[in-house]
Amino acid sequence: EQIKKGNYDHFMQKEIHEQPHSLTTTMRGRLRDNDVVLGGLKVHLKTIRHSRRIIFIGCGTSYNAALAARPFLEELSGIPVAMELASDLLDRQGPIYREDTAVFVSQSGETADTLLALEYALENGALCVGITNTVGSTLARKTHCGVHINAGCEIGVASTKAYTSQIVVMVMVALAIGADKISTQSKRDAIINALHDLPNQVSEVLKLDSEMKDLAESLIETQSLLVFGRGYNYATALEGALKVKEVALMHSEGMLAGEMKHGPLALVDETLPIIVIATRDACFSKQQSVIQQLHARKGRLIVMCSNGDVSSVCPSGSCRVIEVPQVADCLQPVINIVPLQLLAYHLTVLRGYDVDQPRNLAKSVTTQ
Ligand code: AGP
Repeated sequence: EQIKKGNYDHFMQKEIHEQPHSLTTTMRGRLRDNDVVLGGLKVHLKTIRHSRRIIFIGCGTSYNAALAARPFLEELSGIPVAMELASDLLDRQGPIYREDTAVFVSQSGETADTLLALEYALENGALCVGITNTVGSTLARKTHCGVHINAGCEIGVASTKAYTSQIVVMVMVALAIGADKISTQSKRDAIINALHDLPNQVSEVLKLDSEMKDLAESLIETQSLLVFGRGYNYATALEGALKVKEVALMHSEGMLAGEMKHGPLALVDETLPIIVIATRDACFSKQQSVIQQLHARKGRLIVMCSNGDVSSVCPSGSCRVIEVPQVADCLQPVINIVPLQLLAYHLTVLRGYDVDQPRNLAKSVTTQ
């Protein structure tokens, strides 16, 4: 059933719309009475808690998912969390120590760069954890322990449901690592409750489908698209832009909003569309100020905000707004990526490109 398109025109479309279900499957049996049970990690949790550093390693969308989960893992574990693109780690032969926990994230579990980085980390004595969608994959077999994301088979080359399930798994990993701390108990309880409701919230945000098609229609002829995010949603900016570039074949860049005035501001004019992610979290007021600065330079703004926040993000009424449900800060990236996945999908169809097999790309990159 999973490898049929059913009522959908493309696998990417089907996989976007099945996220309420795939997220439910990812969490099934793992959330219990305000506790998280991850069988594959259990015996290693103590070692992970004593790590001097946790390193997330992956490529493309899998790297972006880890980036989305990083702030929550840092908050709950108190351990520094480093980010590594697998190819860059290998190019630099960056230092890895026995006291490190290296967490490898890969939908396929067969990406060559990620597997070579795994060999390198094993040689250097790190505890190696695998997070993958593919049971029996090389990543699953060669790591010391790990968690399957159980998102179901993903066929579209553009990763969508695996991304949101990866984030949820890494949030659950953070909850499991932080479970020995009394000081974060109430925060953990709140997130576990929010996880239960997350599939419903994703169903809500999927209702933006026709709005995103309409937005895509207004962007068909555009040469380039920028996406600005920060904090938890820096990853959303990178991932949204990656989706647009890989399937809609349109130049798109995800940028850290805090870096805007250090260069990208020069690009702003009346024609370049800029999506600013400004949902409610600790970075909200900083994003309001970014919007004001872009507005002052007559930027063509599309603002993603929490439901009911239109007048707070766009007082002049001159920008286009995407309203999404507000959820716990660490889960907001799961919600916020969905409209951008839909936008990339509709842009691709409208521009007449192949949705499921984008030019020059393979689902799993098994060569270096
Ligand atoms: C995702 O849309 C991309 N096709 C690509 O970036 C992918 O995420 C990357 O190649 C890593 O793949 P993996 O998760 O199977 O390791």
